[in-house]
Amino acid sequence: MTKDGRCRIFDTTLRDGEQAAGINLNREEKLQIALQLAKMKVDIIEAGFPAASPGDFEAVKMVAERVHGPVIAGLARTRREDITAAAKAVEGAERGRIHTFLATSPIHMEYKLKMTPEEVLAEVREGVAFARTLAEDVEFSAEDASRSEPAFLIQVFRAAAESGASTLNIPDTVGYAVPEEFGAFVQGIMEGTDRPDVVWSVHCHNDLGMAVANSLAAVRRGVRQVECTVNGLGERAGNASLEEIVMALRTRKESYGCETGLDTRRLYGVSSQVSRMTGFPVPPNKAIVGSNAFAHEAGIHQHGMLCNRATYEIMSAEDVGAPGTRLVLGKHSGRHAFRARVEEMGFTLSKEKLEEAMILFKDLCDRKEIVTSEDLEAMIDSEILAGGESRRITLKGFLVQVGRGHGSATVTLEDEGREVTDAAAGNGPVDAAYRAIRRILAIEPVLVNYSIRSVSEASDAIGEARITLALGDCQISGRGASTDVIEASIKAYIDGINRLFQKAATKGASLYEKNAG
Ligand code: KIV
Ligand code: ZN
Repeated sequence: MTKDGRCRIFDTTLRDGEQAAGINLNREEKLQIALQLAKMKVDIIEAGFPAASPGDFEAVKMVAERVHGPVIAGLARTRREDITAAAKAVEGAERGRIHTFLATSPIHMEYKLKMTPEEVLAEVREGVAFARTLAEDVEFSAEDASRSEPAFLIQVFRAAAESGASTLNIPDTVGYAVPEEFGAFVQGIMEGTDRPDVVWSVHCHNDLGMAVANSLAAVRRGVRQVECTVNGLGERAGNASLEEIVMALRTRKESYGCETGLDTRRLYGVSSQVSRMTGFPVPPNKAIVGSNAFAHEAGIHQHGMLCNRATYEIMSAEDVGAPGTRLVLGKHSGRHAFRARVEEMGFTLSKEKLEEAMILFKDLCDRKEIVTSEDLEAMIDSEILAGGESRRITLKGFLVQVGRGHGSATVTLEDEGREVTDAAAGNGPVDAAYRAIRRILAIEPVLVNYSIRSVSEASDAIGEARITLALGDCQISGRGASTDVIEASIKAYIDGINRLFQKAATKGASLYEKNAG
């Protein structure tokens, strides 16, 4: 087995992370995240599941064509049509990978796949061999490996390696494993398979809160690829957290005997970006990237820190790129300084989008005394990235009247080039504006969630509204930012509706049919 001193980081934020309920990233957002992951030097980016929908396919293709450095992987079941879609989606990558999987546990084979172990074995052979005809680099995952019979799992992995897979992945799909047991299990499988030429990998879910511990237990036994996500996002309780794995391997290098090649100073920035784009906040006490991770409150701790930082700190805020002082931008900031700051914040914008961002920034300077990085991040996120390229509806104007307990709103939208205005009353200005928008578009999405927060201090701060909308079986989130909280709320609603249209379009459906149903 390949047991060198480097542990490969396989980031699946854009695939398993994006599968989490309530997360929906558009193509532009996925690209921005992938570009940051590449700058941080992750080894592999799993960009999506190309056969899942045309939208997924396009997103993987775009990442494959535009992101340089890491291997770009596309997920596929062992079916030919999935493998063909994954191969096509990653063909433009510098280095593409097909990641194919099939379940191997008795419960999955019997109830989900309705296949015998012999059939599963044959399908693994066939699927991996077919994938190898389309790509050099093929990874095979045995879904629910941690609940599979070891002897059968060894047979399956041998078959996958014989058919050409060069990475073999052992997922703890349901987060059932515990560290000591999982480490021993993984070691047994690796020894039993006896393929010194492959890279062994693990993929742990966090249902019992042990995804990171399980992954590290496997690294100790010789695994040299860990699949993980930024902020631990993922199905149910999530996946192993990338930042925790990377910093544990770095801080306890002598214990694990291997390191990653990541630029850890980018961890904080990537975490914030993913949190903003997904709408999943990072708890203050989250290891590595929480806002309190390097804060020392207790007097005894502060005293110790002043004498010697190592008394209470095992790594420094700078190691993970946590912000020291906040940078303040002003209307006199030049183009170069502006571009440098935008890049530092983790955005990679085209010339045209950078120009749009500069206009937004200058406009903000006229409305706000001090513009902070957080203000700018929120504006770029909501005005430039949210909604993506195919924004169908834009807000042209609105007027609200507010009284105690009621409100009325007149809203003008541009819908596919046509301006339409309508008015409605509601129990407040936001409710009234949302009603007016629903009247204009003649759709009735359910508002599942609404929240608004200030992204910086002072009464002229930017307000960022976030909403979740449901229509039929489709649930999406939207966001909007403005110094005016009503405008932010309206923009968030329109962003949500645009995403509903986009999602329906990628499925080849119409929102109007859904609405009728
Ligand atoms: O959790 C899992 O088993 C997976 C596989 C597809 C690798 O996500
Ligand atoms: Zn998973």
